[in-house]
Amino acid sequence: MPHVLIVDDEPNTLAALAEIISAEGFTVGTAQDLRQAKIQMVRQTPDVILADLKLPDGNGMELFEALDPKVAVEFILITGHASVESAVDALRLGAADYLVKPINMQRLKTVLDRIPRAGDLKAEISSLRGELRRFGRFGRMLGGSPVMQNLYDQMNKVAPTEATVLLVGESGTGKELVAQTLHELSLRRKHPFLPVNCGAISPNLIESEMFGHERGSFTGADRQHKGYFERAHGGTLFLDEITEMPIELQVKLLRVLETGMFMRVGVNREIETDVRIVAATNRNPEKAVAEGKLREDLYHRLNVFPLYLPPLRERGKDVELIAQSLLEQMNAEHKTDKVMDPDFVSGLMRHSWPGNVRELKNYMQRAYIMPTGR
Ligand SMILES: Nc1ncnc2c1ncn2[C@@H]1O[C@H](COP(=O)(O)OP(=O)(O)OP(=O)(O)O)[C@@H](O)[C@H]1O
Ligand SMILES: [Mg+2]
Repeated sequence: MPHVLIVDDEPNTLAALAEIISAEGFTVGTAQDLRQAKIQMVRQTPDVILADLKLPDGNGMELFEALDPKVAVEFILITGHASVESAVDALRLGAADYLVKPINMQRLKTVLDRIPRAGDLKAEISSLRGELRRFGRFGRMLGGSPVMQNLYDQMNKVAPTEATVLLVGESGTGKELVAQTLHELSLRRKHPFLPVNCGAISPNLIESEMFGHERGSFTGADRQHKGYFERAHGGTLFLDEITEMPIELQVKLLRVLETGMFMRVGVNREIETDVRIVAATNRNPEKAVAEGKLREDLYHRLNVFPLYLPPLRERGKDVELIAQSLLEQMNAEHKTDKVMDPDFVSGLMRHSWPGNVRELKNYMQRAYIMPTGR
């Protein structure tokens, strides 16, 4: 039976967590400060440590730093709202996940779920993480430039966690591809990945599309309808073009993110969610906040782990590498063996690609059919 060590100085939190965690089938040890925790760790090596960030004799992260890297211990940090930033730092250092107080029980269960039962999936994912990354590519993402390597590093770290990710990048830089890859590399991969274009749904339907509705809740609602939040249960909801979501709905989304609960249109009963949010925008989010298109509080909620997608013009030789790979695909498909001549390649390198990878894809398709001129 896996052993969990819970470290928190509030006796009530400690007792509540211990009760839930042992009900989930773990043995539990508790400690109220670093000193006690270290004694407990010697007595019985835990499989999981759940530690509060602020402890009377120091910072919970010290326990993580004290761990022997050869022993596989899952470290989960507990923080207050105000210290989400430290939690993100912890993820960057290799903590498995974090929980924000007051602890959402569904989220705690999700985090615990991955420990004993998801062992196989976990191994599968860590091998996938190595396998996906070959020279010059990461899964379906092509490019080996330093800016892309840096992006892959960040993706590897954040993918297996429950952290909300905000993707920022110009149109055509691959935000949807990144969102899919994050989902593939998470324990949610056997559940749905659901993309929602927040700018493409009619404003008077968007609420029922997101949260669902009960039969008869408005004219035309002739049966119960499950919204995106319910359909993505257990998986990842990709909220694309988040700044295009009507402001009133942003308030409701914020509530869901804060409480983990939502309501269908036409009912007063709350439903608990288990979705991970990946949001994206091709605008500068701070500017969108200043212009009143994105609520500031929602922005901070989404911006837990921001990932910036560099424009193609900053990726150097990746332009040629992507073009080459696209050409090879077309050659394979049409059984041809066309090649790019040096002039063509230098033309590619000079162009600034305002439409990024999408533009390059379109351009290569045209050039394949009509080899002369742009
Ligand atoms: N690094 C990459 N390697 C290979 N293909 C890529 C890469 N990045 C993007 N693509 C391809 O380019 C196209 C555009 O990517 P995607 O739709 O993910 O961009 P986006 O950032 O979501 O754009 P928009 O803001 O316009 O929605 C897709 O066909 C995608 O598969
Ligand atoms: Mg997109």
